[in-house]
Amino acid sequence: MNSQTTAAELAEPNLRKLLSTAGLDVEYTRAQGNIIYRRGQDGGEIPVLDYAGGYGSLIFGHNHPDIVAYARELLDEQTAVHAQFSSHPYANRLAAELNRIMHRELGTDEPYYATFANSGAEAVEAAVKHAEMDRVMRLSEVLAEIEASVESVRTAVKLGLATVPDDVYERVALPRAGSDEEGLELVIAEITRRNAAQSGKAPVFVALEAGFHGKLVGSVQLTHNEAYRSPFSALGARTRFVPRDRPDVLEELLADERGTLLRLAHEDGRVRVVAQDHYPFCAFLLEPIQGEGGIHVLTAEFAREIQEFSRASGCPLVIDEIQSGTGRTGALLAGSAIGLRGDYYVLAKSLGGGIAKMSVMLVRQGRYRADFELVHSSTFAKDSFSCHIALKVLELLEADGGRAYRQAAERGAALRAMLERVCSAFPDVAKEVRGRGLMLGLEFHDQSDAEDQVFREAARSHMFGYVIAGHLLHGHHIRTFPTASAVNTLRFEPSLLLTNEEIDRLERALTDVCTILREHGAHRLAIPA
Ligand code: F0G
Repeated sequence: MNSQTTAAELAEPNLRKLLSTAGLDVEYTRAQGNIIYRRGQDGGEIPVLDYAGGYGSLIFGHNHPDIVAYARELLDEQTAVHAQFSSHPYANRLAAELNRIMHRELGTDEPYYATFANSGAEAVEAAVKHAEMDRVMRLSEVLAEIEASVESVRTAVKLGLATVPDDVYERVALPRAGSDEEGLELVIAEITRRNAAQSGKAPVFVALEAGFHGKLVGSVQLTHNEAYRSPFSALGARTRFVPRDRPDVLEELLADERGTLLRLAHEDGRVRVVAQDHYPFCAFLLEPIQGEGGIHVLTAEFAREIQEFSRASGCPLVIDEIQSGTGRTGALLAGSAIGLRGDYYVLAKSLGGGIAKMSVMLVRQGRYRADFELVHSSTFAKDSFSCHIALKVLELLEADGGRAYRQAAERGAALRAMLERVCSAFPDVAKEVRGRGLMLGLEFHDQSDAEDQVFREAARSHMFGYVIAGHLLHGHHIRTFPTASAVNTLRFEPSLLLTNEEIDRLERALTDVCTILREHGAHRLAIPA
């Protein structure tokens, strides 16, 4: 228990107890750059090299001096942080700057409208809500067109300009009845009934296995990890999860969810029934590089299949760049490298510069529903402080022709080269290096059958990665974590300030970890009892 803990712990004591089993319940007191300081047993400060990086939130490191200085300026100027329901020029400048960069990376000039929020999941929720509003409005537009087609045919038959042939009755499995006008009314009633059943289907979401999009009521149902999702499944939407790199499953999904809406037409004096495909999809959410699910990079081939699925079904793509975006892989959008073009984008984490809580949902003009602005809001979103900080982040990213992007890519390549070295030196314990830029993961082989009981039990209780993280922390003063839904994978998401010396430090630490695993030396783990 650290010095500040009171007798009765009331802020998630159960989680702290679980962290303590791996020695991870330490107190951090301050941080700067890639170093975060923890309080030692003697009350002194111990500098720790931070490879967790706020789960990808610190592209410029902890308390970057330029960002902190700017924050001080804003507060000294008494910026009106709370100015809800007014003109927010800074929010518009931020939206415009995001558009400028997105247009460059995506090769489009279509505007993307911004809705600001406060966390990643909240931006995802905004995207889901907007997509549902758009789905319902598009559907009502289609049903209105169908209604108009029915009225046009009803008038034509009434005026004797068209007759109702047998195949119309056959198409809706009705016997011919009475006059053409009477029979047509029965056909119209059946078409209306079928269209109501099809259009009344609950929205369906599509997401990838191992995907993570947050843990709020809506977003948690789009997150693949069953443990997060199932306690709340009664509350949320229906999601179809598809495996990565399986375009055949996408095709099966398309066929499985394909429905039909019927309309009427008449030509050459004959009425006919026209069927059109209809899909109940609301949105397809995906990360260009999956983070929390184990650091998996989508391939350009699969990205093309996903785009085709979206085109064929009309299902909008929500590209979740909350972790992979904002410079981490060498661009604002990681998805642009694999040819992904989203209808929506969500950004968060590093956009807040490591000191503000800021996220944004962007939707392209062709899908934008202005009415959404009138029914969605958040007290803290779009505030002057966070918007200005995010503008500073983009300024730092874009400076000197995008030097920061190049630095992130170069530092990531150097870090990856080291991880590959470790992986190839210990193929018996290290399985694979994955990721891009400064979003990297090192997967260890499963230790469920390890000789060491410590590793065997840790692996079987899904704590393996945390035990290794505990050793890295106490044995090497290095902080990182496993990806929570894939705990055999350690994540490495440092800032672009990463130095070669810091990479060397991690190499020595990982070599120690792999040697302990290889030599079944669990007794050498530096985790406090
Ligand atoms: N989407 C992605 C891709 C994320 O990585 C996260 C959070 C979220 C949404 C939710 O953002 O926590 O601000 O609500 N990722 C963390 C992780 C939890 O472990 O990678 P939030």
